[in-house]
Amino acid sequence: MAKILVVTSGKGGVGKTTTSAAIGTGLALRGHKTVIVDFDVGLRNLDLIMGCERRVVYDFVNVVNGEANLQQALIKDKKIEGLYVLAASQTRDKDALTKEGVEKVLMELKETFEFVVCDSPAGIETGAHLAMYFADEAIVVTNPEVSSVRDSDRMLGLLASKSRRAERGEEPIKEHLLLTRYNPERVSKGEMLGVEDVKEILAVTLLGVIPESQAVLKASNQGVPVILDEQSDAGQAYSDAVDRLLGKDKEHRFLDVQKKGFFERLFGGN
Ligand SMILES: Nc1ncnc2c1ncn2[C@@H]1O[C@H](COP(=O)(O)OP(=O)(O)OP(=O)(O)O)[C@@H](O)[C@H]1O
Ligand SMILES: [Mg+2]
Repeated sequence: MAKILVVTSGKGGVGKTTTSAAIGTGLALRGHKTVIVDFDVGLRNLDLIMGCERRVVYDFVNVVNGEANLQQALIKDKKIEGLYVLAASQTRDKDALTKEGVEKVLMELKETFEFVVCDSPAGIETGAHLAMYFADEAIVVTNPEVSSVRDSDRMLGLLASKSRRAERGEEPIKEHLLLTRYNPERVSKGEMLGVEDVKEILAVTLLGVIPESQAVLKASNQGVPVILDEQSDAGQAYSDAVDRLLGKDKEHRFLDVQKKGFFERLFGGN
């Protein structure tokens, strides 16, 4: 059964697009045909992180408007088999996506893909609502700070009440918490909320904890999803999260302050 997975948050800039790219790529790497759909109309960001921005000819809005068909708009990843991107439009018209139009495109995608990963825009306005409305599962991306947790809580409320599953009285959207930009050192100093605090407030199963990592910026500058940087902490943490999403039991890593080795202490590496 094809699954629609929304990556959402409430608060902006927490790591949704980074996560959509990483999780979508990870699913394709494990043999699941996956498309990542950019719902952030006007901002186009996913294609940059996926490194396919020069290949966007037609986008999501073109397909909704019938100006192009899906085959014309889907961008096939050059390296990874079974991975596709549907880019957002750069139009300034935030209302370019309609519920009927989005439904038509998502249902068509569900016929050929195993996973449809929807990268939601920030906030709780129309774009974010459309991104989550048809979802089967939701990854709620949260940073370990009070404002982000509060907005994630609001989003959980919306997932439970304003989605199609909720409106139809069907089985609720399966919710996953993904804690990103986690910095154990700042948690230990009391400057950020710890994993347990966030879990307790939101009461949602923890899909993963992604450490704050320079590898993320480096990867996005190169247009390569960070999960492909297998040496990096963030890449490994995303890889574990994909395994958990597929039902594997994996212990959480990168939760504690790393003790620096002798040479690192000596030469100040970090
Ligand atoms: N684990 C991480 N470590 C360090 N930086 C990160 C991490 N995750 C995301 N970032 C950085 O945070 C910024 C925002 O990330 P991203 O664009 O993925 O967020 P977003 O939630 O999609 O934002 P928006 O709400 O604007 O769509 C980017 O500069 C990204 O490189
Ligand atoms: Mg984004």
